[in-house]
Amino acid sequence: MSSDDKIRELMEMRKKARLGGGERRIESQHKKGKYTARERIALLLDEGSFEEFDMFVSHRTVDFGLDKQAYLSDGVVTGYGTIDGRLVYIFSQDFTVFGGSLSEMYAQKICKVMDKAMKVGAPVIGINDSGGARIQEGVKSLGGYADIFQKNIMASGVVPQISAIFGPCAGGAVYSPALTDFTIMSKGTSFMFVTGPKVVKTVTGETVTEEELGGASVHGAKSGVTHFIADDEEEGILLIRKLLSYLPQNNLEDPPQTECDDPIDRLDDELNYIIPEEPNKPYDVKDVIASVVDYNEFLEVHRNYAQNIVVGFAKFNGMPVGIVANQPNYLAGVLDINSSRKAARFVRFCDAFNIPLVTLVDVPGFLPGTAQEYGGIIIHGAKLLFAYGEATVPKITIILRKAYGGAYDVMSSKHLRGDINYAWPNSEIAVMGPKGAIEVLHSKELKEIEDEHEKALFIAKKEDEYKRKFANPYVAAKYGYIDDVIEPRNTRFRIIRALQMLSTKKDVNPPKKHSNLPL
Ligand code: HXC
Repeated sequence: MSSDDKIRELMEMRKKARLGGGERRIESQHKKGKYTARERIALLLDEGSFEEFDMFVSHRTVDFGLDKQAYLSDGVVTGYGTIDGRLVYIFSQDFTVFGGSLSEMYAQKICKVMDKAMKVGAPVIGINDSGGARIQEGVKSLGGYADIFQKNIMASGVVPQISAIFGPCAGGAVYSPALTDFTIMSKGTSFMFVTGPKVVKTVTGETVTEEELGGASVHGAKSGVTHFIADDEEEGILLIRKLLSYLPQNNLEDPPQTECDDPIDRLDDELNYIIPEEPNKPYDVKDVIASVVDYNEFLEVHRNYAQNIVVGFAKFNGMPVGIVANQPNYLAGVLDINSSRKAARFVRFCDAFNIPLVTLVDVPGFLPGTAQEYGGIIIHGAKLLFAYGEATVPKITIILRKAYGGAYDVMSSKHLRGDINYAWPNSEIAVMGPKGAIEVLHSKELKEIEDEHEKALFIAKKEDEYKRKFANPYVAAKYGYIDDVIEPRNTRFRIIRALQMLSTKKDVNPPKKHSNLPL
């Protein structure tokens, strides 16, 4: 064979590999409104930056006639490239080859990119579109999954891991995305479940569609399994690119600082009036976030899940931060099981990757009731408490209005090593709200007053006294729990100053194997 022939052979093999399961299956993929594995990589990475590994890998199974059915790449495309000039590792499952099902060799390809990502210190992006374990390979496929899970676990907190679900993701396959930091699902074309509708029908008798059981809207709003819902794959890919713009390459680096033209001393007079006079009247905390961050840009995580707390990424003078904010517009911003879990996971992610935390507090307390107690609010609330207390990144807290009871402590208080704790003048920091407090403190007197009008006057007087004493930020400020009471319109400037001051912060936890987070 001449050199030319050899090169021709190489080109032929490359061409064959790039066709995956063949034209017919590619067409069928497109008909479902889905891109192929390679098209997705081309859309996601900077143009021309993709370098592929293991294009010539194929399976080594002979059972079930597979010796006569082998495809180059074996159903997953792997390699590295750049996004906005920054290195990332990628694997993209190819549904056109055995339905993207996972084989022994396929798993080895994924493990290889994960090992490289760990060594070099760069994010891993996995695009999932698979029928699960390759049935013909039996336990070799199950073992392959477990090998990937182990890599996911080792990489957790070392390099960011992002999973896009752009097709089926069922059975044990769901656990790899669940072990990663962020999951993105495309509407209408993706689903995730541990057991599919048929098994559900057999075991529980329930009739349910794939979409109802594990579609993007279910996992975005009900289960919280996915962090982002994208209208289509293009939007999902843009979301991945955007998300990475806030993240460092690994846990030893700081998040990427960018140039910022948005003035750091930009005042917003409207913030002075955003808190309604009536203490129980809601407002949208996202208006506060938009007002203070660079260019009003906020990438919200878990937008449709546990909406009583808002979490996401933004920048201050080009510095990425994680924002956690109680949302008075939804369930009065109360802390409950789901919101505690949502925020705790976010806080831990930010802490693992050196992303400072800015916390905006307006919380009436924890949600009372049997549903919450039976569901273990004690344990779940403790998760958030634990996450804040363990975090060593710069922590800046602004109390906007209410900070009542245990929720005051939990929401990045000074006592949990909050670095800078400010309050707006309308803040109310107390063990509980005035109404509840008066009922406890004056229960005997209230029982003795028979006349309802007289009782109402008594309550009003006592509430007034209570508010003057506790429902303000100055008692907390007197003890140094609040570093300053700030003018709301000046919040952006005060946060940026604090972040600059804290940029060299060093804090460590005592040496240990690992903590025992209340799971
Ligand atoms: C081998 C598979 C496969 C699998 C699909 N195919 N799933 N081959 N192993 N698991 C093949 C099909 O034979 C078909 O081959 C091609 O992929 C496309 O599949 P279709 O069924 O035609 O596509 P579609 O109608 O879109 O349905 C997709 C699907 C369905 C919903 C994913 O194929 C399906 O239900 N597959 C089985 C899913 C499953 O039960 N997996 C095991 C889960 S348990 P041809 O040659 O016709 O193109 C599991 C355990 C993991 O994964 C445990 C880890 C700890």
